[in-house]
Amino acid sequence: MLMQRVKPLSRILAEGSDEDRGLKRSLGPWALTAMGIGAIIGTGIFVLTGVASATRAGPSLTISFVVAGIVSALAALCYAEVSSKIPISGSAYTYTYATLGEFMAWIVGWALVLEYALGAATVSVGWSGYFTFILHTLFDWNIPQVWQHSHWDMTPGIANLPAAGIILLITALLVKGTRESGTVNAIIVAIKVAVVLFFIVIGVGHINPANYHLPPSPQAGLGGYFPFGIAGMFGGAAFIFFAYIGFDAVSTTAEEARNPSRDLPFGIIVSLVICTILYIVVVAILNGLVPFYTLNVNFPVAYAVDSVGLAWAGVIISFGAIAGLTTVLLVMMYGQTRIFYAMSRDGLIPPLFVQVHPTWRTPWLSQILFGVLIAAAGALFPISILGSVTNMGTLSAFILVAWAVPRLRLRHPELQGSFTLPFGPYIIPVLTMISAAFLIYFLKVGNPVVWGRVPLVWLAFIVWLVVGLIFYFSYGRHRSTVALDEIEGIAVRQPRVN
Ligand code: ALA
Repeated sequence: MLMQRVKPLSRILAEGSDEDRGLKRSLGPWALTAMGIGAIIGTGIFVLTGVASATRAGPSLTISFVVAGIVSALAALCYAEVSSKIPISGSAYTYTYATLGEFMAWIVGWALVLEYALGAATVSVGWSGYFTFILHTLFDWNIPQVWQHSHWDMTPGIANLPAAGIILLITALLVKGTRESGTVNAIIVAIKVAVVLFFIVIGVGHINPANYHLPPSPQAGLGGYFPFGIAGMFGGAAFIFFAYIGFDAVSTTAEEARNPSRDLPFGIIVSLVICTILYIVVVAILNGLVPFYTLNVNFPVAYAVDSVGLAWAGVIISFGAIAGLTTVLLVMMYGQTRIFYAMSRDGLIPPLFVQVHPTWRTPWLSQILFGVLIAAAGALFPISILGSVTNMGTLSAFILVAWAVPRLRLRHPELQGSFTLPFGPYIIPVLTMISAAFLIYFLKVGNPVVWGRVPLVWLAFIVWLVVGLIFYFSYGRHRSTVALDEIEGIAVRQPRVN
């Protein structure tokens, strides 16, 4: 019953071609790959690796990255098949609406708020870490600790002001309609990748192999390669899964791709493969430079090179990290309003989110509302909680996208995408669902618990879901334009975003 209200594919495709008007189809396969890399490399590798090494996995974080990379690759294959058959922007929400129906699409859209909005808050805290490192190292200027940290950080403060500041700045840019151009994006991506390669090249000669096998101690836990056991390694994988989030953002550029059904799968898969290789090498070097337990800082990559006497290199890396994190923020904050735009156009959330500014042609109210909320989240919550809840939302959305693959084949056997999953319609989607659920389980490692045993990250997600369901059944279910279409044959259309 709940899964019967499916959005007709013909309507989705028609809305897609409406949006096509005016947008140049200029992105080829490599430009899409660059966008993927631009959205992927960010706080996960530049920041969360520190917390993850110090508190969860130690040197075995390298294996954690392999595990999370496998889960992401499985999900990326599912995204690749669906996006090649429905080459429309709107990402997982749209795919689910066409296959699993409105109720599941609602859950995906609601979970994606965690991926995009909380993800942006997580990145802003990482941005703040590198920003304060630069201020300190170059200008000996220190923002008071209480204005660098949230109340729940290891060093408790009041609010992380640089994190809130960068979010508000980007909100202003997005309200005025500044989107990265392909060229600017490509330049920043090149800088980001160059900084990562730079770290690899200068770091590799300073590895101290003893750091991979420290003796047991109160700081180093059990010592050795797995200082927190195998569970710690999986906990690390669940946490740094954040580093892989973003390849799905390629699917939101469908209307600007030259040949979306062929190039989206290419961009998704190739960007993920490149990032996975870079990540594994970076993490292996990072844990070889310094004892893992010293990495619990907000700028671990710069800290590690600084610790081996290369302070100048730390500054270069920090500038690269800041530039790179800024593009991730742009993609995430743009993506958030874009998804709510689609949901609002479908009548599932109030029309506020489709209101387009007369001059700037952007969903400005939505952008400002999210900007303020994201800034508050970045200012007030610690990065490990923000990152974990983001992962929880993203992994849940992945599970539903994987489920959509066999449903799409059943419902629309006529659709011939350019990419078809190997091994039939079930094996990879089922593996994706199981492995994503596995990571969700291990998110509990290293996270605070409430009532003695319930991991906060699970509880936060359940509360978010319940709020969403109440909202859906009291609002969206009755106002859905698909429902109105069904009942009255009326297509309720809203103005479109630029
Ligand atoms: N993967 C992105 C990052 O690590 C979200 O910042």
